[in-house]
Amino acid sequence: MEEKIQKLNALRKEAQLGGGEKRIEAQHKKGKLTARERIELLVDKGSFEEVDMFVKHQTKEFGLDKQRYLGDGVVTGYAKIDGRPVALFSQDFTVLGGSLSEAHAKKIVKIMDMAMKLGIPVIGINDSGGARIQEGVVSLGGYADIFLRNTLASGVIPQISAVMGPCAGGAVYSPAITDFIFMVKNSSYMFVTGPNVVKTVTHEEVSFEELGGANTHSIKSGVAHFSFENEVETLEHIRKLMGYLPLNWRDFPPEKEFDFNRNLELPELNGIVPDNPNKPYDMYEIINLLVDDGEFLEVHKDFAGNIIVGFGRIGGMPVGIIANQPAVLAGVLDINSSNKAARFVRFCDAFNIPLLVLEDVPGFLPGTDQEWNGIIKNGAKLLFAFAEATVPKVTVITRKAYGGAYDVMNSKHIRGDFNFAWPSAEIAVMGPKGAVEIIFKREIEKAENPEDALNGFLQDYIDKFANPYIAAERGYIDDVIIPAETKIRLIKAFKLLKTKVDTNPKKKHSNIPL
Ligand code: HXC
Repeated sequence: MEEKIQKLNALRKEAQLGGGEKRIEAQHKKGKLTARERIELLVDKGSFEEVDMFVKHQTKEFGLDKQRYLGDGVVTGYAKIDGRPVALFSQDFTVLGGSLSEAHAKKIVKIMDMAMKLGIPVIGINDSGGARIQEGVVSLGGYADIFLRNTLASGVIPQISAVMGPCAGGAVYSPAITDFIFMVKNSSYMFVTGPNVVKTVTHEEVSFEELGGANTHSIKSGVAHFSFENEVETLEHIRKLMGYLPLNWRDFPPEKEFDFNRNLELPELNGIVPDNPNKPYDMYEIINLLVDDGEFLEVHKDFAGNIIVGFGRIGGMPVGIIANQPAVLAGVLDINSSNKAARFVRFCDAFNIPLLVLEDVPGFLPGTDQEWNGIIKNGAKLLFAFAEATVPKVTVITRKAYGGAYDVMNSKHIRGDFNFAWPSAEIAVMGPKGAVEIIFKREIEKAENPEDALNGFLQDYIDKFANPYIAAERGYIDDVIIPAETKIRLIKAFKLLKTKVDTNPKKKHSNIPL
């Protein structure tokens, strides 16, 4: 027995080294950690249980029979994060560039199938040269097997992708289907076709980083939800994100203890919205005051800054926050912000995370660019996502709620459970100036002094409509609240809503405007 145990230990040791010390060194030289080092940093100390350590590929072509490494380029297994279970895979670039073989794909498929049975999240760390070229179509089949599982698992268990190296070609579509993509600045990239192909086809000269690096995808394309300076910071933030998520769609997000006896009044909130409705203010100030301990995990921080989305806790209860940002483009809704928020709302709804909407929106962005690129169908995504969501939904209108955007931003009409407004709220079909210029066009034209006439009508309109009381008269607003009392009211609302049950009509699935 002793000898057999020694053999096992020797094999384990060999597996730990992946593609060997030289390649590990090369990985480190690029500023990258190895597959196993990443797992160690990601999960609770000592909690990782590896499976399929002894798997090898069975291919003989192109000399591959001489390159058979234990584990075949991916480390898979189960672990805990903050004491809660998770399935994970971590591609090992030191073994044939982390390329995906049939055996490699089967390992990923195995833990995904198990994660579905167990109802636990899957975290995938991607660092791979793509399909193992020597295996041809078998490798492509392996990718498709993973894509299918990513799709079937969507909305059942949270799926998180960390891209920590190359992720190119069709391989990008696995992370793309998952719920959140994390990238690392200057060492990870994602693209469907690389710079060389781009040069041949479109004659554009572009670097790897510029084409598909972390900045490109977190600022320009919105493909990445999070990007960080280095791998350690990235892995830390995956842990943070997990702290807000349930294990599966039947589970509830983890609550934290909260001292309800502390003073919950926030007098600073009374002084944030400026008296001048055209003056911007920073919605982050409101969010940071409202969330417990000022902790807010922002998603898509660098993309479509006119809307803010992310996770926080209110009275210990996790919520997904969707907030217009008056400091960027006046908080207007456009294509990117609608897409960003719609995806977030659907994630929260799929996983029982209540929604808190902080609303200050002047409407949808006008212009040919927006119209020609489909603001209609993209804005509809957000409307659809809010309307379809059955989780607890609370809205606080801090200032403007104009036009279609009033309806879209979780209004009472689309099943908002509690719709509050601050006294500074202006709920109307459009801003006062635009409205007056339309409805009093003739009177203004005929007036001796059109400017004075316009100002007169404007004041009338503001007095009548630029407030929350007309909406409150109809019950579209449940209450007008003092800003300082917002946190108390939100805690009460979300507590009450814990027993909420709402459903949608039976169907195969909805048909969200895509
Ligand atoms: C087999 C691969 C490989 C691959 C890399 N390697 N990619 N082996 N199949 N796809 C091997 C290399 O031969 C090398 O082996 C080792 O991994 C490290 O690769 P390097 O090139 O030395 O590393 P680096 O300079 O960092 O470059 C990384 C890279 C490059 C940019 C990813 O390796 C590359 O361009 N690879 C090919 C990418 C590609 O075209 N893949 C197919 C995409 S199509 P040794 O033994 O020398 O260490 C695709 C389709 C998926 O993926 C479709 C799904 C539907």
